Amino acid sequence: MSNPLLEIQELHVQIEGKEILKGISLTLEKGQVHAVMGPNGSGKSTLSNALLGHPKYQITQGRILYKGEDLAALKTDARARAGIFLAFQYPTAIPGVSVANFLRTALKARFGEGFQPKEFRKEFKAAMAAIGIDESFATRYVNDGFSGGEKKRHEILQMALLRPELAILDETDSGLDIDALRTVAEGINRLRGPGLGILLITHYQRILNYVQPDLVHVLIDGRIVRSGGKELAHELEAKGYAPYESLREPTKEIITQ
Ligand SMILES: Nc1ncnc2c1ncn2[C@@H]1O[C@H](COP(=O)(O)OP(=O)(O)O)[C@@H](O)[C@H]1O
Ligand SMILES: [Mg+2]
Repeated sequence: MSNPLLEIQELHVQIEGKEILKGISLTLEKGQVHAVMGPNGSGKSTLSNALLGHPKYQITQGRILYKGEDLAALKTDARARAGIFLAFQYPTAIPGVSVANFLRTALKARFGEGFQPKEFRKEFKAAMAAIGIDESFATRYVNDGFSGGEKKRHEILQMALLRPELAILDETDSGLDIDALRTVAEGINRLRGPGLGILLITHYQRILNYVQPDLVHVLIDGRIVRSGGKELAHELEAKGYAPYESLREPTKEIITQ
């Protein structure tokens, strides 16, 4: 019997004592693309951080299985080595570290003995060309003064070279103009395949015009309130999240009134 790539079971996550995710369940099979859509503050980035094992995000109930194994025992770096990749919503700048050095280090960490510098140079060039990145990019410092589009292209470049088995893309589409959005979407589509599962986390439907998801989940106030096919994304585009607003938990203030 084969295991799903990712199985999130009744996951509850707290940040500083406040419950943000209130029981999330989701099963992603190898090769699938699932979109997680939700308004600001619904817990999208909390979900991605919990999947990567960020220490600030405390799992109070439920569990995350990756290829059938409980992730709780694995620290963030071990998760990355195991083939889990997270593209951050707000990638941080690393002044003094060039893109080429950064990627070389990341690849060494991921592939260990299997890392071959000569191959790297070739693959690096090819990947930059495919994603529409100028070669001068290699010597620039990571995310330092990058435009929004350059940051997102850099995330896709990392993903292309690291060849993850599970990619979590947290609002990789946000703030992109139409050309950058298309390039990023093409990058995702090129990497898509039986060896990769993708959790495409987004506020907006528009990237789903280019990347067709197998399933769409609607995240409201820390809960998946609906799952369905790609038509669900179009429905959200037409109606927004307003029809789901009533599913929000009442705040304490309302209860005490
Ligand atoms: N580091 C943090 N410390 C305290 N509260 C946080 C932190 N990160 C997120 N939150 C809170 O958790 C909720 C969900 O945030 P987030 O997961 O970033 O939502 P989304 O990515 O969907 O916009 C929000 O109410 C936010 O204020
Ligand atoms: Mg977010």
